[in-house]
Amino acid sequence: MYRRVVRPVLYRLGKGDAEVAHEQTLHGLRRLGRIPGAVAALSRTYGALPTGSPRTVFGVRFPSPVGLAAGMDKNGIALPAWRALGFGFVEVGTVTAHPQPGNEKPRLFRLVEDEAVINRMGFNNLGSSALADRLAAYGDLGYPLGISIGKSKVTPLDDAVEDYVTSLRRLSAYGDYFAVNVSSPNTPGLRSLQDAGHLRELLTALHAEAASLSVGGLGGKPILVKIAPDLTPSAIDELLAVCTEVGVAGIIATNTTIGRPGVESHPLAAETGGLSGRPLTEIAAKTVAHIHAETGGALPIIGVGGILEPADAMRLFDAGASLVQLYTGLIYRGPGLIRRINRGLT
Ligand SMILES: Cc1cc2nc3c(=O)[nH]c(=O)nc-3n(C[C@H](O)[C@H](O)[C@H](O)COP(=O)(O)O)c2cc1C
Repeated sequence: MYRRVVRPVLYRLGKGDAEVAHEQTLHGLRRLGRIPGAVAALSRTYGALPTGSPRTVFGVRFPSPVGLAAGMDKNGIALPAWRALGFGFVEVGTVTAHPQPGNEKPRLFRLVEDEAVINRMGFNNLGSSALADRLAAYGDLGYPLGISIGKSKVTPLDDAVEDYVTSLRRLSAYGDYFAVNVSSPNTPGLRSLQDAGHLRELLTALHAEAASLSVGGLGGKPILVKIAPDLTPSAIDELLAVCTEVGVAGIIATNTTIGRPGVESHPLAAETGGLSGRPLTEIAAKTVAHIHAETGGALPIIGVGGILEPADAMRLFDAGASLVQLYTGLIYRGPGLIRRINRGLT
């Protein structure tokens, strides 16, 4: 139904502009969330969660280990609807301390034949203050919320720490975990924050902030680091050593790749940006397996990248992920994919 009916309509919106389809979908879900009974109806079709005990990971209880990845609902506008589609958790953001428009359009491209997407959105978001206001208005969502934070474009790399800390402070009361995004390819210099020295400084400051806010609500809330799939195994090992030393709660692997594996000949492959979807399946699984082996399974992993079938999710679990997330799979397979993964876990 999604692939035969809904998807062709979505793909024609805005004369085929992928961002128009994204915006319309998001706003449609937001409207649905406000219609009495609509969320319940959606939930009856898609929302069944795996039976059996929910999983507790880094101290947070997840009704399903399948989550929505960062970037889809950056400003948290459709939060009531995601649970009804079967997601067990949602990661909003990436948000930055300053609101920003992101890169010039077009900045989102579908490589349909390859079930892949290239994006160079550049953290378009309304800022961490606006997100805090919105989350305060929602109240309890009934599922765990992750909040991804990144660096504002106007903030020089040398002042990055303060930018992240500002967002963490504003949002401390609303997230069940926080994802430190140091891996987006679309903010110049951002990925250099994955280097051991920079990362140690950033994570130490965030942990200090978390500790100082314990009375105000953060109370040692889990901080995770999201990494790029383009790091060499030795760079990953260095990063993991810092994460273990500083005491992060887990790793999110992976963000989009700047490589073009298997899609080199596609006419859109030359577009600048991060590649997601099917070309990431293999890389994400290998990265998760590497982290799991290197840490002896001691550091929880959220596996993300190229889940287009339940088997892809199972592969990430088998590689050592405790939770998984998806984004591009939703574009190509629709919400039925979440239902099928949840069923497979029952
Ligand atoms: C359009 C788009 C925007 C994204 N924005 C973000 C973001 O703001 N923060 C982030 O951590 N990841 C972002 N991502 C990366 C996804 O969260 C995910 O890590 C990646 O797409 C791999 O998963 P997938 O193959 O299921 O899409 C974005 C991905 C896409 C396609």
